Amino acid sequence: MAIERTLSIIKPDAVSRNLIGEIESRFEKAGLQVVAARMIHMTQEQAEGFYAEHRERSFFPDLVGFMTSGPVIVQVLEGENAIARNRELMGATNPKEAEAGTIRADYADSIDANAVHGSDSPESAEREIAYFFNDSEICPRTL
Ligand code: PPS
Repeated sequence: MAIERTLSIIKPDAVSRNLIGEIESRFEKAGLQVVAARMIHMTQEQAEGFYAEHRERSFFPDLVGFMTSGPVIVQVLEGENAIARNRELMGATNPKEAEAGTIRADYADSIDANAVHGSDSPESAEREIAYFFNDSEICPRTL
């Protein structure tokens, strides 16, 4: 099993509903460690850059508008198969299709306000982590 890192975002809907602790608890119970974290309120430029691959999609303005609507937690999760594990814990993009017991099934309302983001591949994880964090801000466990 590979130890991986993935970029996780707790989105504005979940932050505004005071769900940060509930969501972090799921990651921790699943063996994922938070090795970097920051609360930010993304600028339009930041959100557009982060989601640049979706620039041509019809939902792009809604996605950017939502992600800049309030503060978010950006963080790096580390652990065995962290990329896939995080996406299992998150559930499907559309909460209506998300498996019972996943974060989106339990806490998300709609495909645009869907509580969490997680990198979908090692390449995305590398790009997305570097988008928000430099190496000195990532703190793996020493104990
Ligand atoms: S794809 O086609 O698989 O690349 O896209 P997908 O992963 O389904 O969605 C990419 C991100 O766009 C968000 N999304 C939307 N936002 C607003 N409105 C609509 N209709 C919509 N559809 C998808 C979705 O939540 C994804 O955000 P992240 O942050 O990556 O989870």
